[in-house]
Amino acid sequence: MKPPTNSRREALKALGLVSLGTTLGGVAFGKPVDQTLHIAPAEPTTPNLTKTIKAIVVGAGNRGNVYGGYALKYPGQLDIVGVAEPIPLRQQRFVDKHKIAEDRRFVTWEHVFDQPKFADAIIITTPDDLHHGPAMAALALGYDLLLEKPIAQSWQECKEIRDLAEEKGRIVAVCHVLRYSPYYQKIKAVIDSGVLGELVSMQHFEPIQHVHMSHSYVRGNWRREADTNPIILAKSCHDLDIMRWWIDRPCEYVSSFGSLKWFREENAPEGSTKRCTDGCAVEATCPYSAKKIYYDNRTWLHHFDLPQEEPARGEAILKNITEGPYGRCVYHCDNDVADHQVVSLQFADQITANFNMEAFTHYHGRRTRVMGSMGDMVGDETDLLITDFQTGKQEKWNVHDNASLDSGHGGGDWGLVRDWLQAVDQQDGTLLTSTLTASMESHQMGFLAEKSRRNRTIESIG
Ligand SMILES: NC(=O)c1ccc[n+]([C@@H]2O[C@H](COP(=O)([O-])OP(=O)(O)OC[C@H]3O[C@@H](n4cnc5c(N)ncnc54)[C@H](O)[C@@H]3O)[C@@H](O)[C@H]2O)c1
Repeated sequence: MKPPTNSRREALKALGLVSLGTTLGGVAFGKPVDQTLHIAPAEPTTPNLTKTIKAIVVGAGNRGNVYGGYALKYPGQLDIVGVAEPIPLRQQRFVDKHKIAEDRRFVTWEHVFDQPKFADAIIITTPDDLHHGPAMAALALGYDLLLEKPIAQSWQECKEIRDLAEEKGRIVAVCHVLRYSPYYQKIKAVIDSGVLGELVSMQHFEPIQHVHMSHSYVRGNWRREADTNPIILAKSCHDLDIMRWWIDRPCEYVSSFGSLKWFREENAPEGSTKRCTDGCAVEATCPYSAKKIYYDNRTWLHHFDLPQEEPARGEAILKNITEGPYGRCVYHCDNDVADHQVVSLQFADQITANFNMEAFTHYHGRRTRVMGSMGDMVGDETDLLITDFQTGKQEKWNVHDNASLDSGHGGGDWGLVRDWLQAVDQQDGTLLTSTLTASMESHQMGFLAEKSRRNRTIESIG
């Protein structure tokens, strides 16, 4: 049972919330927040490490460089001493940044584990189908892990990683980075404080944004389930995980609906061609024109390997869209993941939750509504508005006024690294929230949601 609302005033004060007085719907911005309530320090400059943690990055692409960036900013905390990366340009750039010795550079993950252990930990940022292999090999050699989500491609593989981690007693942090972002931590702090009364239900919405959808899940790396995962895991394991974390009860039942409705051959406009650069008749008005997205607007380029200088950069983009996967018409791709999906969840204590993953929005930014017996909370990844049913008073909290967000995912990317380094240094998994065990629960929700979507069943978690 959560605390009753008679301690609400104290709880609000502790939460750093600003009261809007009696004026419903007014706007005010928060003051610095009580750092004791799940809130990450503004800058991860001073964790209590006894030594610099040495790590090897397996997969020096986008995410490998995000975590590698922490080592460049805080070299006293993290030192990247090895890399496995098959694309020569990526490997060379990573080696140059981290000054990695010649005998610690590898083409593929298997080569790392041919060597005796030469670091404290492995950072696994390979594509989804290459998580299980390196995770098992690394654990067998006694490395601790920072493991990108999704953990693996099946529930069975997830269990194998968990069992080996337990047997070897290793620290494994799953990169559920939202748990380390001040905004998401604030929602948890508000729910846990009891200011909403008894938690009753939740709505959570992930608007992927239509161009992001086309880049990652139609043309890009996460477009096919067999190569990666169903989108409910590839994209939305974050959301299922954060809901499970906020609600803090076991999930009992899962049901789901959804499909690939729009990005299909039969929806190709008349006059469209296989590539945007093949003389497509509708390219000029198509929201998914690769020429517009990548060349004219220079957006979504983080999976391209490009020179910095013009005109070489522009020429390389054009080559990519005339020859590579990102220049294909969104209606003529080999994608099969859903572009919209809903998941309904029943948790213990009669708490219900709905999750909605949606490609067709012009905006990003997860939206959340939390309903309690004595109040509710509405959030959009920037502002939170908390309303007290008894008094009608409202309080507002703004993330920019209350936290330093110097990394992606609202500060969560580096917040995760900071806590993981502490856990590795102290060999104490309780310093993490996204442990393997905790993350397994939300992955199971995802695997069962997919089963429900395919079979039109209600799945129970027993
Ligand atoms: N936590 C998050 O919010 C988040 C966000 C995006 C992606 N991800 C996950 O992170 C992982 C990596 O995604 P990304 O966007 O960095 O992709 P990416 O393609 O940019 O990076 C993956 C890298 O792995 C390399 N690689 C391929 N085969 C390899 C092998 N055999 N050995 C070593 N390296 C190999 C690729 O060449 C590539 O450079 C994926 O599992 C993805 O789902 C997580």
